[in-house]
Amino acid sequence: MIKKHSTAHQLLTLLSDGGFHSGEDLGKTLKMTRSAIWKGIKQLESSDIIVESLSGKGYCIPNGLDLLEEAKIRNYLDANASKAIDEFVLLGSTESTNDFLLSQIDTTQPKTIACFAEQQTKGKGRRGRSWVSPFGNNIYHSLLWNFDKDPSELMGLSLAIAVASVRALNQYGIEDGLELKWPNDIFWKSHKLAGILIELIGQPHEGCEVVIGIGINTRLSEEQIDALNRPITSIEKITQEAANRNQLAGLLLNALVASLQEFEKHGLASFLKEWGALDMLRGKTLNLQTAKHSITGIMQGISEKGALLLLDKNGKVQPYLSGETTLEQKSP
Ligand code: BTN
Repeated sequence: MIKKHSTAHQLLTLLSDGGFHSGEDLGKTLKMTRSAIWKGIKQLESSDIIVESLSGKGYCIPNGLDLLEEAKIRNYLDANASKAIDEFVLLGSTESTNDFLLSQIDTTQPKTIACFAEQQTKGKGRRGRSWVSPFGNNIYHSLLWNFDKDPSELMGLSLAIAVASVRALNQYGIEDGLELKWPNDIFWKSHKLAGILIELIGQPHEGCEVVIGIGINTRLSEEQIDALNRPITSIEKITQEAANRNQLAGLLLNALVASLQEFEKHGLASFLKEWGALDMLRGKTLNLQTAKHSITGIMQGISEKGALLLLDKNGKVQPYLSGETTLEQKSP
């Protein structure tokens, strides 16, 4: 784990420009011995940061790193988001930004907290899966939001958050190719770009605290993509240029805050049209795995509440509120 102000963290800041720095120069700048520098480099490598070392030239992080900075993220915030966020937390490394915010919940003093991390050591995906979260390369964000609503009224929130994330990506300049896979996976041309994990703590009739976790791939190496063994993409693969993570983080917060306020007033209704236009499963034959059943049918879009509508083999359209979808393979 790379702690703020540690040797490894200071080295990261110096090497983030992507250029070569000799061990001697790094030692002079940080007032440390070359062996302390070497140990720091080893710590970076053990956190999965690729450091190239060349004799005579020194150390370099190929392509550099665009580290997150609170002031830079705040620069991209609009007045509405700045006003709504009570606390801003930027972590170097944490197990999971969702878990971090879950540990901060104080129901006697509800707060809106925005959290970003450079790395997650136990990043969580949906359905108990893990979310690969290497240092400095992607967005790992969680937002703690308090709803003055019964938890049962939050059905559909995850779909609204998916639309909000697409709005942020549009603002960032990615307009074409984005798609949504029910309930809230964000794809670009059939390759997964981002995922959402919402965790909720609430009592019936008492309002609830919601932790909205979003992971966006900004840079993944070919090795990382191969290791995941699924169709995956990243912002840099799409735009073919270095990502501006601070800008993306700021735009994401703007879109999330505005969309959460919209959801508080109108529920899912004002997101349905956009969701429908991005639906990548509509008309496709798919399998839905629920806790108890496996159902095959043709996807008919979503209901007003955000349920998946499946046309079954008896010609009936049934709504499903949860489950995991997989596309049926076409026979050759
Ligand atoms: C998925 O598609 O399976 C959901 C992935 C959600 C990942 C994000 S990264 C920030 C937040 N913290 C976590 O541990 N998970 C979410």
